[in-house]
Amino acid sequence: MGELMTEKHVKYILSVEKKKDDFESVVMEHLRVNGAYWGLTTLDILGKLDAVDQDEVVSWIMQCQHESGGFGGNIGHDPHILYTLSAIQVLALFDKIDVLDVENVANYIASLQNEDGSFSGDMWGEIDTRFSYIAICSLALLHRLDKINVERAVKYIVSCKNLDGGFGCTPGAESHAGQIFCCVGALAITGSLHHVDKDLLGWWLCERQVKSGGLNGRPEKLPDVCYSWWVLSSLILIDRVHWIDKGKLVNFILDCQDKENGGISDRPDDAVDVFHTYFGVAGLSLLEFPGLKAIDPAYALPVEVVNRIFLGK
Ligand code: FPP
Ligand code: ZN
Repeated sequence: MGELMTEKHVKYILSVEKKKDDFESVVMEHLRVNGAYWGLTTLDILGKLDAVDQDEVVSWIMQCQHESGGFGGNIGHDPHILYTLSAIQVLALFDKIDVLDVENVANYIASLQNEDGSFSGDMWGEIDTRFSYIAICSLALLHRLDKINVERAVKYIVSCKNLDGGFGCTPGAESHAGQIFCCVGALAITGSLHHVDKDLLGWWLCERQVKSGGLNGRPEKLPDVCYSWWVLSSLILIDRVHWIDKGKLVNFILDCQDKENGGISDRPDDAVDVFHTYFGVAGLSLLEFPGLKAIDPAYALPVEVVNRIFLGK
């Protein structure tokens, strides 16, 4: 088995956290709350979360909150459900959900549910099963699922199921591994996995593994490290992860490391970024790579964080 360059990845994540005005940071400015979730969860899985100043992060996250209860991607940005989940997840990592006005955040998320059970991402109304997952995951973490109509939310997700067993972003849209994670994750959290044809979906998902060992997100696409997360987490949730070659996938992810400067890219020899570093490390955690904390495939948070929230330990 190849080597995971843990120390280098920690250094890389911390350097990205500090740089505020290089090209990547400027381009990423509107997504900084998402970036914080990716970077900090990576550090936690690697056992290095204490390398960051927790009070500084929590105070910055809280400054990204809008009076509606939702969070923006950075201070002064408009709220969106995408950043709201990341903000909750970052607070969860630090065991700081109690700094939130939970009622206000839960009301914001619930206000985005539509008549047919679907969710819009923000007040402008784009609808996508990503937002269904985010609403359900966020409210579950806040213990406020009672704020929405869960039955209708599930019905809408099931209406996005295709004949190939997969799910798309809206009814009739093609199956895509990212959307499958969202739909299967939301069904798992709400105890509704009986709506999934596990053999049919498991077959579609395991066909995502290509010769190099990497996984793609749809037929005929190139493999990409982030699909190690979207595909693997779904396979685990439906008990079909033994249908892929785990060893070959581990090697593919390790081949995408920048062994000199740290970080992981989408494919071998491409430029690294925090998003693929997170999903590479999270994928290795799902594959039970030695030395990594276990990550929960439905909540995308370390298992110990999920246990603290739901089991109080
Ligand atoms: C692929 O995106 C991924 C998706 C469509 C799923 C995104 C899911 C969320 C935002 C929910 C929150 C996620 C977590 C882990 C908590 P892409 O744009 O890279 O797709 P492409 O490969 O087709 O370009
Ligand atoms: Zn990718």
